[in-house]
Amino acid sequence: MPSRRHVLALLAATPFAASCGGNIPDYAAAWRSPGAGEADPRRFALAHAILAPNPHNTQPWQVELRGEDEMLLYCDLDRRLPFTDPLDRQITIGFGCFLELYRIAAAQQGRLAEITPFPEGAPEGRLDARPLAHVRFSPAANAAPDSLFAHITARRTNRNDYDAARAPSAAQRTDIATASAIPGAGHVVGAVAEGERVTQIRDLVWRAFDREMRTRGAQEETYRWLRFGAEERARHRDGLYIDVPVPGVLRALGMLDEETVVNPESSANRKVAEEWKRKADTAPAFMWLTTPDDTPTTRLMAGMAYARMNLAATAAGLAMHPWSQALQEYEEMADLYSEAKALLGAGADQTVQMLVRVGYAEPVEPAARRDIGAFVRA
Ligand SMILES: Cc1cc2nc3c(=O)[nH]c(=O)nc-3n(C[C@H](O)[C@H](O)[C@H](O)COP(=O)(O)O)c2cc1C
Repeated sequence: MPSRRHVLALLAATPFAASCGGNIPDYAAAWRSPGAGEADPRRFALAHAILAPNPHNTQPWQVELRGEDEMLLYCDLDRRLPFTDPLDRQITIGFGCFLELYRIAAAQQGRLAEITPFPEGAPEGRLDARPLAHVRFSPAANAAPDSLFAHITARRTNRNDYDAARAPSAAQRTDIATASAIPGAGHVVGAVAEGERVTQIRDLVWRAFDREMRTRGAQEETYRWLRFGAEERARHRDGLYIDVPVPGVLRALGMLDEETVVNPESSANRKVAEEWKRKADTAPAFMWLTTPDDTPTTRLMAGMAYARMNLAATAAGLAMHPWSQALQEYEEMADLYSEAKALLGAGADQTVQMLVRVGYAEPVEPAARRDIGAFVRA
């Protein structure tokens, strides 16, 4: 345990400018006027697509711009989450979110994006080097603007506490479910905002969160994507931001070391657990999205639908937050996975692709994004 004098000496030596603004890049630049000044409509669409929700904010999208109006979408295979997402199901959902935002932004400029999933064949198992989608602007038809376009830059994953006493109305829940419609998709959106079932789902999501905190492989995987403090966030512009004071000092003290951060019994993690239990216990409503099967194309379409749900919630002034632990296919989660399916009414062949908390909360800052150049293959 470092002495008080030791801590004070380290504080005095900390380069505060590095974590308090200074000349570090703007982690949120991508959210301001995306696509402004872009002459190529694909780059305009891309500047919006990279604002999509995606697991752990790893931003695994890689695009190849071909000819005048085509785009091929690939996965940076090193930006997946193999422990908690062993099937690449959730990563693929994030690709669906990306494609839907690409489509909506293209439509804003009158371009009809024709999306062909897995043009060189869908993988049998995990994703591979082949493209997840080919997108071409139709030479023959124009697209009408989509009203959800206006909400792309305001959409967030909101992890604040939600107002337990103020659930979204039945009409709002219906609007969100209706907005999720994707031509050809067979998903169903469920919602609950009162009664015993809310209590049961609160309990389930909390136990699944706690299980994940106690699963070393899952914690080690997440650790790789944690960005401690403003300087680290601005340098990486991906991952999950952890707002810690004086990260330089905490690092020097070993408090941000992997061993400490993944330890569920550390005092910091016991506090984190308390906070997340409160978030679960005060969730006013849940919504979920179930598909009839779980093929790679179904996962893409589930992502398109989820992007639309998140945008529709934003349009209604509602906060939304996925709570995915109980839906994950790793061994340590197996019993809670089965419980989730039963509780959410999914049949044996069906898959619950997304489970989210929805309600009213204080706004949050945008999550970091890299520049669009990072996503375009030469
Ligand atoms: C398939 C999927 C699963 C997700 N699961 C969780 C989750 O369990 N917990 C969480 O806090 N966020 C979850 N998220 C939200 C992402 O972490 C979030 O989209 C990302 O950090 C970027 O932030 P943004 O949505 O505010 O742009 C999930 C997102 C997707 C697409």
